[in-house]
Amino acid sequence: MSCDIVLGGQWGDEGKAKIIDFLSKDYDIICRFQGGANAGHTVVAGGKKFVFHLIPSGILYPGKICVLGNGLVIDLSSLTDEIKYLESQNISFSDRLKISTLAHVVLPYHILLDKARENKSSNKIGTTHRGIGPAYTDKFLRCGIRIADLLNPDKLEEKIKESIYEKKVLFQNAYSGQSIPEPSVVCETILKLFEPLKKYAIHTPYFLNTSIRQNKSVLMEGAQGAGLDIDFGSYPYVTSSNTTCGGAVTGSGVGLKNFSNIIGVFKAYITRVGGGRLPTALEENNMKVLREAGGEYGATTGRPRNCGWFDGVQAKYAVIINSLTQIALTKIDIFDQYKKIYFCRAYKIKGKETSEFPSSIEDFTNADPVYMEFDGWESPIAGITDYKKLPDTAKKYLDFIQEYTGCPVGIVSTGPGREDTLLCS
Ligand code: GDP
Ligand code: IMO
Ligand code: MG
Repeated sequence: MSCDIVLGGQWGDEGKAKIIDFLSKDYDIICRFQGGANAGHTVVAGGKKFVFHLIPSGILYPGKICVLGNGLVIDLSSLTDEIKYLESQNISFSDRLKISTLAHVVLPYHILLDKARENKSSNKIGTTHRGIGPAYTDKFLRCGIRIADLLNPDKLEEKIKESIYEKKVLFQNAYSGQSIPEPSVVCETILKLFEPLKKYAIHTPYFLNTSIRQNKSVLMEGAQGAGLDIDFGSYPYVTSSNTTCGGAVTGSGVGLKNFSNIIGVFKAYITRVGGGRLPTALEENNMKVLREAGGEYGATTGRPRNCGWFDGVQAKYAVIINSLTQIALTKIDIFDQYKKIYFCRAYKIKGKETSEFPSSIEDFTNADPVYMEFDGWESPIAGITDYKKLPDTAKKYLDFIQEYTGCPVGIVSTGPGREDTLLCS
């Protein structure tokens, strides 16, 4: 029996889906535990590229059960699109997909509210406009709509009416009188979308725990990354859920004692999309070079990602708050042509060096990176599947990452495909 977690160590898009797809063969169940369709998880299998937003990245493996856990906020329209796409690719999954009855539903007014808030704000978070913040806000205000509510639709319109009331006032007064759909319309739309999805809805905490008792193994799939965590990230420029390891517990109903490995995925460099600072961001021209080399454009929104050097301060913090047992380092092939590589070993804030990730956004904004320089390997690394065969300069970089962060690098990814992966044992 094993229950492990794969989550993002940086500001998202680290290549989590690539690692999850690679590891999925060894697990019976893959369970997404937080976030929603803000995620864009890319899997390249058999030379074909798939982007998942809600469906766990293990779905391409026949026989693996994929669970949308209770910690998610689910946009049924987006889920329907993904299901249709899988059907169009002849991937059979109908007996393998499970949706938690405890998961919350993203409703059309959440998306409108997300967009309206962002448009009006002078301090934009740069959200994905997927209604994530407003859906989680309703969850915590205790006026959210859950999958279970759609299974018992008698009271649904009344619940939506209750939830929509304050929003109508908000839209009228704060957002230029924009109208939002009537509760009856929302109710009808959502039930129509839910009808074909109904068969997937189950009480997932019972399913997962029963499966674990039957010696089934579970891989938990995180979305976003540690820097975007609602508690530990660069607040307020974060997402609205716990992207760190606690989210895997509360977002699945699987208790702490079941977990063994917690794998944090990091790129060999770092990227960030949306608002909020990236302390190690490259200057414009060099950023463009790295962005093009790494194909750093959002898998959900297509936005160009900001790119920078590996941030050791941020990574070490991610290791601590997640109790990471292992690092999976992706995209080291992107440095193949680089003569020199830089690693941020400290921040300088108001003239003082620190290796602590600041808790105040003001200090974070003022943090200047202090770098160490490494030689590049200047040779193609893809296709190497034995750690010992990596160029010495690459090994030196990887060894330093593990020495600095105090966490072993267990997996190295040298390309987008499953086969471009090596284990460091
Ligand atoms: P996720 O959100 O963490 O799953 O990551 P994304 O899918 O948003 O972005 C990662 C991108 O990098 C995708 O296009 C992957 O196909 C690609 N990728 C993942 N690992 C590697 C790697 O080791 N090398 C290269 N060149 N591309 C990779
Ligand atoms: P994956 O799972 C990168 C960012 C947005 C914005 C902030 C809040 O593919 O790594 P939200 O829509 O969640 O309210 O936006 O979080 N963001 C991501 N950045 N990868 C993601 O997901 C992200 N999901 C949200 O750009 O800055
Ligand atoms: Mg992504």
